[in-house]
Amino acid sequence: MTLFRGTFLDTPDSPFKGAHMRAESDAALVVRDGLIVARGRAAALLAEHPDEDVVDLRDGLVLPGFVDTHVHFPQVRAIGGLGMPLLDWLERCALPEEARLADTTYAAGVAADFVDGLARAGTTTALVFGSHFAGAVDTLFEEATRVGLRVTSGLVLSDRILREDLFTTPERAHAEGLVLAEKWHGVGRTRYAVTPRFALSCTDELLASAGDLMRDVPDAFFTSHVNENREEIEGVRALFGSDYSTSYDKHGLLGPRSVLAHNVHPTRSDLRLLGQRGVAVAHCPTSNAALGSGDFPLGAHLAYGIRVALGSDVGAGSGFCLFKEGLQAYFCQQLLGAEGHRLTAGHLLHLATAAGADALGLADVTGDLSVGKEFDALWLSPEHGNTLDVVLRHAGSPDDALAKAFALAGPADIRQTWVAGTPIRLRR
Ligand code: GUN
Ligand code: ZN
Repeated sequence: MTLFRGTFLDTPDSPFKGAHMRAESDAALVVRDGLIVARGRAAALLAEHPDEDVVDLRDGLVLPGFVDTHVHFPQVRAIGGLGMPLLDWLERCALPEEARLADTTYAAGVAADFVDGLARAGTTTALVFGSHFAGAVDTLFEEATRVGLRVTSGLVLSDRILREDLFTTPERAHAEGLVLAEKWHGVGRTRYAVTPRFALSCTDELLASAGDLMRDVPDAFFTSHVNENREEIEGVRALFGSDYSTSYDKHGLLGPRSVLAHNVHPTRSDLRLLGQRGVAVAHCPTSNAALGSGDFPLGAHLAYGIRVALGSDVGAGSGFCLFKEGLQAYFCQQLLGAEGHRLTAGHLLHLATAAGADALGLADVTGDLSVGKEFDALWLSPEHGNTLDVVLRHAGSPDDALAKAFALAGPADIRQTWVAGTPIRLRR
């Protein structure tokens, strides 16, 4: 057993339902076999367990490990392409790099960069958009397993509009997906997600094969993009003659294990359908701003009962850091004025942790630091004297400290992350 001693902040109950963030200072968590088996005042638990190892995390804050619900593995080396809307950015920035992952050796290097980037940012769980190449998806699962992160991912599918070297066929998509799912779905911390790139780049036949794969892989996840960019949405309407979400729904792809990224410009009927199906939406704030996609209508999602969590959307998003995504989510709602949803630091923490765990069907396992959950955590402990350190030392309350963390923290301020009680080793 190990005792972790420090100041713990988490959101076991949702601030979107009126709850307040939980904050306990000089507290301790008792962790056995990766599971939190007790929590309480440090003095009492130390007295109760005098012979156990104690990890002293009092210098800083301990938060649940972050959950990134939308991030592209092949795009880590393409971060930072500015000045283009979605479809130009895909053609000029993202897809040339994605095509390089046909070379599995190259893909393995990208997988190492990617998983290390997640871990450095304090992300312990992610729904990862894989590659168009099965060998590359294998390298991602291998690297995630080696490092110990919780990763759900799958083969990305397209058969029109994009560059042809990324195309598959309905038969190949199904066969390759099945092989990958048999190898990785439910093995250790990895799971399979059926992943058409977006309806714009998929024929009905390919989406139908994705539906078959969902039925053939019990408890598989489904992920894709929806309603991100006006030109894209017009293209989907022209091809399918329907709302964007219906292009997936008619193939049985929408349900409680479906996560759709963006949804910046939904129609009312999209919102109604996503709410009815229990779909979760990955809100990707820096990507939406960088590509000029638009302002996320958070209030409308909440009004329709749609679950919302955060995604970094690397590489259109500007990095792996969910502190930055939380801050940009806050900025976006502020800029919407009366139409924006007022967000506190507690809301941002919830979006970056427990809401993500819920979206990924892992709410029993991770997302907060309650007894019965696995100890997935990050230790925010900035270098002494840096601006975050200064403001944390002068914070008036835990809420104030958390707001300052969202304003200022980056990966360099995270000293350690754990998954199921095991420290994650970074590449040096
Ligand atoms: N839509 C289809 N592919 C992508 C992608 O890679 N990034 C984003 N942001 N949107 C997409
Ligand atoms: Zn994306």
